[in-house]
Amino acid sequence: MIVFSGSSCQNLGRKVAESIGARLGEAKIDRFPDDEVYIRVLTPVKGEECVFVQSTLGNDNLVELLLFLDLLRDLGASRVHAVVPYLGYARQDKIFNEGEALSAKTVLKILHEFPDTLTTVNCHFLDKEGTLEFHGIELTNIDAFPLIAGYFKDRLKKPVLIAPDKGSLHYARHAAEVIGCEFDHMQKTRLSSEEVKIETKKLSVKGKDALILDDMISTGGTIIEAAKLLKSQGAASVNVGCVHGVFSHGIDRIKSGVDTLVCTDTLDRGEISAVSVAGLIAKSLKR
Ligand code: R5P
Repeated sequence: MIVFSGSSCQNLGRKVAESIGARLGEAKIDRFPDDEVYIRVLTPVKGEECVFVQSTLGNDNLVELLLFLDLLRDLGASRVHAVVPYLGYARQDKIFNEGEALSAKTVLKILHEFPDTLTTVNCHFLDKEGTLEFHGIELTNIDAFPLIAGYFKDRLKKPVLIAPDKGSLHYARHAAEVIGCEFDHMQKTRLSSEEVKIETKKLSVKGKDALILDDMISTGGTIIEAAKLLKSQGAASVNVGCVHGVFSHGIDRIKSGVDTLVCTDTLDRGEISAVSVAGLIAKSLKR
């Protein structure tokens, strides 16, 4: 097996190759003068099983993924596995207002043309792990919540786990089992793409180390509101873990409102990406 890393997942791809004990493929990924994506695979792949690891935050990364997967096929790879740790466009998974594009479905429809298998990590429109279908397209979803919970397990004295909305309750339940703590969820109403209203939960957080786990942080609106509420209810500390650190408005505004902020390396955020999903991806690919 040969593992190639896309430009968004250079470190993660290398770690996946190491975890599987596979070769790391070489490729040149560049830009034409007009900014279009240029790709050349340098490692021979004819008859080889190949993996391409690439998160698709931003349109360029998506184009790179599509070009790379099709190229591996053209070069005669025997099997092609797409690993898309963070799948972009996944949040527009419903038509919220008449006339809107169902972007998650469209992106998936294009994407699934190229690889033999498609693997994601806590894909927004899937609420559990395993091999699942979305609009008739099959993909394997990995759950990294227990891994993040493991990171916090011995770091919090009196942990209590809080999901910011009902959607991540299933994941939160598993994470709470790892820590061995109680869990609850808040009530979230999205007012706009930047603003949310967060309402109270049943469980008391007074004097406890609240841990908010979410699949992703984008603008930070959800986490900032949730952290404010938990602090006003007397939490001793507010700690935040997410799988995908999108941080579209930067990290500082989120870090300043919480005691700890950690994400995985589905998107490389330097030292904030303290939890690596490489082992989980390797395990899933070995199956
Ligand atoms: C929503 O359902 C997700 O789980 C996240 O809570 C959401 O995407 C976070 O977005 P933001 O950081 O912009 O509030």
